[in-house]
Parts: sequence; structure tokens; C-alpha cells
Amino acid sequence: MTVTPFQTPKGVHDILPNDHDYYTYIKKVVRHRLRQAGFKRISTPIFEFTDVFARSIGDATDIVEKEMYTFLDKKGRSLTLKPEGTAGVVRAYIEHGMKQLPRPVELYYIEPHFRYDRPQKGRYRQFWQFGYEMIGELDPALDAQVIYIANKINEDLGIDKLFDIQLNTIGSLEDRKKYIQALRDYYYGKERSLCEHCVSRLEKNPLRLLDCKNEDCMILAELAPKMTDYLSAESLEYYNDVKEYLNELEIPFTENPRLVRGLDYYSNTVFEFWDAKEGAQNAIGGGGRYDGLVEKMGGDPTPAVGFAAGIERIIAHMKREKIRVPCKDDIHVFVAQLGKEAKKKCLKLIDEMREAGIRTIGALGKGAMKDQLKLADKFNAKYTLILGITEVREGTIIIRNMQKGSQEVVKFDQVIDELVSKIGKNNLDKYTPGELLY
Ligand code: HAM
Repeated sequence: MTVTPFQTPKGVHDILPNDHDYYTYIKKVVRHRLRQAGFKRISTPIFEFTDVFARSIGDATDIVEKEMYTFLDKKGRSLTLKPEGTAGVVRAYIEHGMKQLPRPVELYYIEPHFRYDRPQKGRYRQFWQFGYEMIGELDPALDAQVIYIANKINEDLGIDKLFDIQLNTIGSLEDRKKYIQALRDYYYGKERSLCEHCVSRLEKNPLRLLDCKNEDCMILAELAPKMTDYLSAESLEYYNDVKEYLNELEIPFTENPRLVRGLDYYSNTVFEFWDAKEGAQNAIGGGGRYDGLVEKMGGDPTPAVGFAAGIERIIAHMKREKIRVPCKDDIHVFVAQLGKEAKKKCLKLIDEMREAGIRTIGALGKGAMKDQLKLADKFNAKYTLILGITEVREGTIIIRNMQKGSQEVVKFDQVIDELVSKIGKNNLDKYTPGELLY
């Protein structure tokens, strides 16, 4: 890397063209799978009033306590860059009266998010997430479908076999109250064996003690009361149904009674996609049911379930597996020319070729033919068109196959047809304004 006076701040990065191929491909797969399942895209603002996140994610979570980019605007109002997508979507659902829409309301997003996390492998301060939410229905079949779609997307990307789906239920709000009391009773008197962090979380958010990575805390968590012993018959039946539907869909999963997630809005089903080798570290995605959130944010009581995944982490896995993605930016044709007359003819021709869907660059500068051919190589063009004084006079043009090094002379008027048949109609980059691009 070159030393420059300016560099990106810690934890954020440029997305260079090579990586954009991955982002574009992942976005396409996500859009395709979600559209198939009836989802519509939504974008919420990059920043919201801080309370939107504090109220939904929970005051005692790591995200709200330590990781939010919060600032005052010129009128002293507290705003926050969005650390996750669900809170904003729920705010928008209520604000725009979406309860009038047929249920479940299915929304998805592909957006940058911001967390003041400690930068390390897979952990950034600006990162992209795709996520989707099903709002308005309570049915274990929906929970199973949310997990199924995430798995399908991973399958399309060629990385599904790398992950273990961790599944748990954290019960209803009522179940959880009883369980949290039992947890506190268990941990009271054992504070000296807990890490500093867990001691402070014991009052505010005791569930989080269950997934602390400190060795002593893990030993205590192992012996702690289990949520399953505090589930109502209804919650248990719901959880069993989710598992039954996942089995029906042939989605393998691992039950993990200690999985609690880092956001407070969940109830009943929770799940995460863990790297089968790395475990809880750097999950690529997670989600669950959040039946109390719409009401908590000022709407009517409304059940909901959703999922989100980190795109950078997905890309890291794809690269690790050496999965290449199609690159739509490759140049089809480089146009080399000699002389002013040739250049004039080329300008028109380049425009016509682009209109025909041929990705073309050229007619650059006044370099010697040898230099122009070198440039065509550097651009990785499949073909080079060569137009010199002789060709202009004879109404012809040369097509050079850059890989084979072979050349043929064709009539100038027929060169586009010739190129289209060489490149193949399906490989053209044709854009008709108004046509559905997505
Ligand atoms: P989350 O588990 O906080 O859930 O984030 C989802 C995914 O975003 C993570 O699994 C990870 O891949 C990615 N991610 C999170 N933080 C970072 C980071 N600092 N750097 C890189 N990637 C990161 C949620 O955000 C919930 N809103 C998911 C959800 C949707 N639940 C229901 N609906």
C-alpha cells in the first residue's frame, strides 16, 4: 500500500472494482431469491433519531451502550447512524401505515450499516448487510421459511456447506421474565467468578451472560438454568413446530440452548449461521422472531420475524473457497486507429457498438499502433478493431482476436454484425431505457 497523506479511518474501507463484482453478484442473488418469495425492497435513512435504536435494540446491549455512531445535529437533536436494519424498517412500517397492506408484509434491504466495533477480521465500522423482515403473522412455518431462504441464498453463492445453523428459542416475554429471575438467582453470590463485563450485565441483561466467551463465565453458563425448563407449553409447541418444518424442508440445524443474540427485541425463535470451523466468532448472519417490537415502537401488537447477513463476511468465505463471480465489466472490444479520418469514423462506430451491447473502449490519443495494441491487452479486451489509412480508403476494418493473435479483414459496414456473432447475443450488455433491470 502506498503511503499517502490521507487514508480511510480505522474500520472502514474502499470497495475496489474487483470486490464490487462480489457485491454485485451477491445483491443479484439476494434480490432474485427474495423477489421469488414475494419480498419488496425498502431503504431507510442512513441516520435516524437515536431513540429508534435505543428503544428497539435495547439500552443494555453492546450495540447501544458502546457501538453506536451518535451525534447531535445543529439543533441539538441526537441522531445515530444505523447499526442494523430491523429498527428502521419497523419505524417505517408504523410511520407509513403498512398495517393496511396484505399480511405478512415482506420487506428486504441491502444497505451499509455502522458500528463502532473493535476492527478485526470480519468486524468493520462500516459494513453492508442484506436483511429481510416478515411483519404481521405469527406462524412457525414463517420462521422456517426465513431460515430456508437464507440457506438458499448461501447455496446459490456456493457457501451453504460451510455453515452450521444454530437454533434456539428464548420463549415468550412472560417465559423470559421467569427465566431471567432464575438466572439472577443462580448468578447472585458467584460474581467473583465472573468477568467484569458479566458482573455489570447481571442486572441489566443477564441473558448475555450465557454467551460470554470468557472461560470462567463459560463454565458457569454451562451449569446455569436452561431456558427450556422455563418455556410455557405454548412456546415449546411453537419451537417444536419450527424444528418440524425445518426437517420437512431438509434444513440441518444444531440446537443451541445458549444462543441468545445480541439484540433485545427477540422472542421465541432465534438462530445464527456459524462458520462450521470458527463457531460463534464472526457469524455470517442471524435473526429471529420479534413479536413485541412493533408495539414497543408505538404500533399495534404485531408479530414479526427476520434475518440479516453481513456481506463482507460472505465475501471473505467466498474468497476463502476460491469462488469466482462473473464479471460484467470485461471489455469486449478495443478500437485502435491511425490518422484523423480513421478516428472520426471510429467515434461513430464506437457509439453504434455500445448501442448494440458491445462493451467498447478506444479511439484514445495518437499512439503508434503497437502501443494501442499493448493498451488493448492491458484492458483485457477480447477483440481489437484496427482502422488505418488503407482500411478507411477500402471501406474495410480488421478484427484481431487478442487471445489467438489472429486477424481478419471485414467490410466496415458489417463489422458490428460480425462482432455480435463472435461475442454471442447472450453476452451483450444491452440496456433499453424503461426495461426492467432488476
Ligand atoms: P446481527 O447479528 O447484529 O443482527 O447482524 C447480522 C450480521 O451482520 C452478522 O451476522 C454479521 O455478519 C454482520 N455484522 C454485524 N456487525 C458487523 C461488523 N461490525 N462488521 C461486519 N459485519 C457485521 C442484526 O443486525 C439483526 N437486525 C438481524 C435481524 C433481522 N433480526 C431480525 N431481522
